[in-house]
Amino acid sequence: MAVLEEATTPFTDQRPGTSGLRKTVAQFSQPGYLENFVQAIFDAVPELHGGTLVLGGDGRYYSDPALRTILAMASASGVGRVLVGRRGLLSTPACSAIIRRRQAVAGILLTASHNPGGPQGDFGVKLNTGNGGPAPEGVTEAVYARSRELERYRIVAEGGEVDLEREHETQIAGMPVAVIDPVADYKALMNELFDFDALRGLFASGRFSMVFDAMHAVTGPYAKALLEDELGAPPGTVINGEPRPDFGGGHPDPNPTRAVDLMARMEADDGPDFGAASDGDGDRNMIVGRRFFVSPPDSLAVLADHLDRIPGYRGRVMGVARSMPTSRAVDRVARAHGYEAFETPTGWKFFGNLLDAGRIQLCGEESFGTSSDHVREKDGLWAVLAWLSILAERRISVEAVVRDHWARFGRDFYTRHDYEGLTREQGDRVIQGLRDKLGELPGALTGPGLRVSGADEFAYTDPIDGHAIEGQGIRVTLEDGSRVVYRLSGTGTQGATLRVYLERWQGDALRHNDELQEVLGDLAQISREIAEVQAITGMVAPSLVV
Ligand code: G1P
Ligand code: ZN
Repeated sequence: MAVLEEATTPFTDQRPGTSGLRKTVAQFSQPGYLENFVQAIFDAVPELHGGTLVLGGDGRYYSDPALRTILAMASASGVGRVLVGRRGLLSTPACSAIIRRRQAVAGILLTASHNPGGPQGDFGVKLNTGNGGPAPEGVTEAVYARSRELERYRIVAEGGEVDLEREHETQIAGMPVAVIDPVADYKALMNELFDFDALRGLFASGRFSMVFDAMHAVTGPYAKALLEDELGAPPGTVINGEPRPDFGGGHPDPNPTRAVDLMARMEADDGPDFGAASDGDGDRNMIVGRRFFVSPPDSLAVLADHLDRIPGYRGRVMGVARSMPTSRAVDRVARAHGYEAFETPTGWKFFGNLLDAGRIQLCGEESFGTSSDHVREKDGLWAVLAWLSILAERRISVEAVVRDHWARFGRDFYTRHDYEGLTREQGDRVIQGLRDKLGELPGALTGPGLRVSGADEFAYTDPIDGHAIEGQGIRVTLEDGSRVVYRLSGTGTQGATLRVYLERWQGDALRHNDELQEVLGDLAQISREIAEVQAITGMVAPSLVV
């Protein structure tokens, strides 16, 4: 085997975030840049020597050359075997499932999640470990440290020729490579969890229709295989189902602003009963009914309330978890069912230990992420099948399911206001300014007349391994129990985004104003006032309201 040693420049980049290394395609195209990070992974994860690696991604621009480079480098670094998705495709949850089902030691996912793709877009390399979840901090720190000292990377000359278009077994300089069906393992897992006959019955009833918007990203083939081929939904149920390197020019983020095709259909008089969308790599989900948006925190709460009735979960739900900025709706459900409820920092990796320890079976984030203990990633299509299970059982509309939920538990009015395009310095000044006045906030009277009752900065100690982390967002509570949370986005590739999360619970919500932004109007004003948003950023209103 001819292993070449090529020169690379040690990384001087900032530390990769929780989602791995996410940069523009232009940055990734610099000579040796991708190679440096990949070599750092092979050097820092000793299990890969002789172990199985799962490789794939959301098919975005630059994936093909990157896949071939990684295959040739894996061979040179003594990786035991690589399972690569056909056409280089693997959704994030499917990759997690394959790692777990096939006892792989790691996964490398080529994705920048919901960020746009194409030559001007973003690219990313994400590392998952043997439990199927995002690499824990100890591992990412080791990769980062290695990337800063590397001066050479190893690659074999013959990596480029693998035919990724068909399933087959081959080898690269002695390293076995299997090009696998990206969908099969995932579909088998879903079949173990859900009652497919009941779901078939829903589609066969003739009184139910749905549309799934794959946003030209990775979930197209998964959704077609599951919904249309397996469950009998009519062809055309999946829209934008062909993965494209630039996601059809769109922004593959399943929220009402970005999933325009889906939202347009759901607004029509004769629109479908149920709509859903997923993001670039298939881990996020948005759930909508006809002219009715289900907020992710409400979706999580509804799922928690019904989970025990889904075959894969019957009699074994012990606990649920949500990220801190996610509304407290799911906590009320947990209390009613006698489940343990956890509040974790933002980022999927914080659910990992709780899932591994069997303490939680369901978890979610306000950012359109939901999943269970079947994988160690959030899972967009899983959430869709879980919602279908609820609809198959109850045979009422999505809106009726949610309104019934509010009638029983009260409603947590919830919204997120993003202030995008700030400089890092502006973002830091907002958070530091809040931090500096945490002590003086309690008791302060705000413009709209509500007093602040408490303020703190969220810190978390992992209940399983005792790992402690600080600085996870500023929480301000008002005297009526409402809550305002502030944090900076950790996933952007430039500048800073301030995220402000607003929520107010109303026990008799059904008798009140339904207009979300009106109900939360005073909180929005309070949030800007307390954080001096206008003075620091010059912005008088958020640039994105979710
Ligand atoms: C965002 C979401 C967070 C999610 C992450 C990865 O991170 O807020 O919940 O885990 O994307 O999908 P942020 O940009 O806010 O740091
Ligand atoms: Zn994603």
